[in-house]
Amino acid sequence: MTPARGKRDLLSVQDVARDLPALLERASRLKADRRAGRRRHTLEGRTLAMVFEKPSTRTRTSFEVAMSDLGGRALYLSSTDLQLGRGETIADTARVLSRYVDAICYRANSHANVLELARSASVPVINALDNVEHPCQIVADLLTLRERWRRTFRGRRLAWIGDGNNVLHSLLLGAAAVGLDLTAATPEAHRPQRPIVAAAEALAATSGATLRFTTSPEEAARGADALYTDVWVSMGDEAERADRERAFAGYQINDAVLALAAPEAFVLHDLPAHRGQEITDSVLDGPRSAAWDQAENRLHAQKAILELLLPRRRR
Ligand code: CP
Repeated sequence: MTPARGKRDLLSVQDVARDLPALLERASRLKADRRAGRRRHTLEGRTLAMVFEKPSTRTRTSFEVAMSDLGGRALYLSSTDLQLGRGETIADTARVLSRYVDAICYRANSHANVLELARSASVPVINALDNVEHPCQIVADLLTLRERWRRTFRGRRLAWIGDGNNVLHSLLLGAAAVGLDLTAATPEAHRPQRPIVAAAEALAATSGATLRFTTSPEEAARGADALYTDVWVSMGDEAERADRERAFAGYQINDAVLALAAPEAFVLHDLPAHRGQEITDSVLDGPRSAAWDQAENRLHAQKAILELLLPRRRR
C-alpha cells in the first residue's frame, strides 16, 4: 500500500486519553453487534501486521479475530521468523512493513523498540505490550468496569494489589483520564515509575480522579468497588523470580482480602494468572471474578482501537 501522510499511533494510554469515552462507547456497540450476529466490515481490505517478540494468547488472538470480524486481515509475524531476529533493524522493518500493511501492532521487549518502530513506520503503530505500558489491555479493563458500574466511573474505587508494572502504569493513566479513584498497593521497591505517576497525576488534575499509593494490600482493598492484580513475575523479569516471590508474598487477592472490599466488589486479572501466587483459585473461579469478561472484552476493545486508528477509506 502507499504510505499515508498523517498517522496516529497508540503507544501509551496518553495517546487516547481524550478518546476513551468514545472508544468505550464504540467497543460496547461492537460487542452488542457481535452478540446479535451483526458484522460491520468497517476495515474491509485492510491488513494489520502483528510483530511479536514475546508470547501472547489474548492480545494476538483478539487482534486477529478483530481484524477478521471487521472485514480485514491480520498477519502474525514472530520476531524470530522475521529478519529482525537476524539483525535487520527495527527502523528498516518498519519502513518495509509500512509499504505492505495499513497498521502494525508490536509486542516488544522494550518501550524504546516501540518508539523506534513508530518513528520509522508511516502507518499507525499500536503498542501490544512493552516493559512500560500495556495500553490496549486498559481499554478492555475500563470497558469491563464500565459495564459493571452502569456506564459511569464517578465515585467508584479501584484497588490494585501487586507489582508496579506496565499494566499498572497504563491503568494509572486510564483511571486518571476517566476520573476513577485508584489505590495501588505495591511493595516499596516495586512502586510504579515516577514519570508515569506524574503524567497520571496531571490527567487526574483535570478529571477529578484520585490516585493513592500504599504498601498495604489490606488498606487498598478496604471498601474498594473492584480489586485488580497481575503476576508477580512479568515476561522479562524471570531472572528476578526468587526475589520477586519473596517481595510479593502477601500481595495476593484471596477470600480474606476480598472480604475487606465492598459487598458488591468484583475482581479483575488481565491473565495469564499464576494461581496460588497473586490470586487464589477460589477468587479467580468464584462468582466475583470478572476476569473472563475482561478477557472477552479485549476483542471488542481491539476493534474500537483499530477503527479509531485506521479511519475508513473514502469510497
Ligand atoms: N493480558 C494479555 O496481554 O494476555 P496475553 O499475554 O496472552 O496477550
